Amino acid sequence: MLTEVSPLLFVALFIPFAMTLGRNAKMLNHTMRNLVSSLIEYESVTTTMAKAKIAQGIIEDLIVKTKKSTLAKNELKSKLYGELYNQEKTVPKLMNEISERYKERNGGFTRILKLEPRIGDNAPQALLELVDNGIREMRFWYIAKTVARLELQGQPLDNLTQKNVKDLLLYRKNGEEEFRKTVEICKNEFFQDDEDLKNLPRMKNDTNGFHRAFHNYEVVPRE
Ligand SMILES: *[C@@H]1O[C@H](CO)[C@@H](O)[C@H](O)[C@H]1NC(C)=O
Ligand SMILES: *[C@@H]1O[C@H](CO)[C@@H](O)[C@H](O)[C@H]1NC(C)=O
Ligand SMILES: *[C@@H]1O[C@H](CO)[C@@H](O)[C@H](O)[C@H]1NC(C)=O
Repeated sequence: MLTEVSPLLFVALFIPFAMTLGRNAKMLNHTMRNLVSSLIEYESVTTTMAKAKIAQGIIEDLIVKTKKSTLAKNELKSKLYGELYNQEKTVPKLMNEISERYKERNGGFTRILKLEPRIGDNAPQALLELVDNGIREMRFWYIAKTVARLELQGQPLDNLTQKNVKDLLLYRKNGEEEFRKTVEICKNEFFQDDEDLKNLPRMKNDTNGFHRAFHNYEVVPRE
């Protein structure tokens, strides 16, 4: 009967279980702290999709808290020292540069881009990046590349691409100018060869292929 289970036995079973939980929690804390710190330092990190999603929640929260903090600077600083690694770099960058960059934003400081699955175990991989981070932003390049292709193919921008461009540049300083430059770079770097361009997939109406399966494309030679 349940009441007759020895408390000692219960404790003997429970302690190792609790210890495993504790270890796992500690491990996860370490992993997340690492990811978030790298993200702040390098603006992007590559990891599994599952970890990227957890890290995204943590960093979004951390940025909001830093932006809204009413603590004295040194108090906030010592608090952030407990949340991050490589604190000499990450803490001032978060407090100054990143808070300043996202002054106008209430959220959506990060985004996740899906990558090819990991070789070996096929685990879904993802790139987690801070938005509006200048020319290093991966989505900036993806969208610039789509626009470059459409322009070279003499096609109008479809609605989705228009929306993507608008969202991308919304809070970005000198966004239009930077974007224009990047589109021109893409034209030269990715679509140099006329032969290549002829064979490039052209989108079906109202799909731009970004994050979409290949079957949304149809191959139409350029006029
Ligand atoms: C890790 O643990 C520390 C100390 O308990 C805590 O302050 C911090 O918020 C945790 N970080 C994450 C990412 O869970
Ligand atoms: C694209 O946008 C235009 C103008 O806003 C609209 O008239 C059109 O219906 C849209 N097309 C689609 C497929 O949503
Ligand atoms: C799709 O695009 C082609 C060529 O641009 C156009 O002729 C056709 O009417 C479009 N179809 C639809 C359903 O919008």
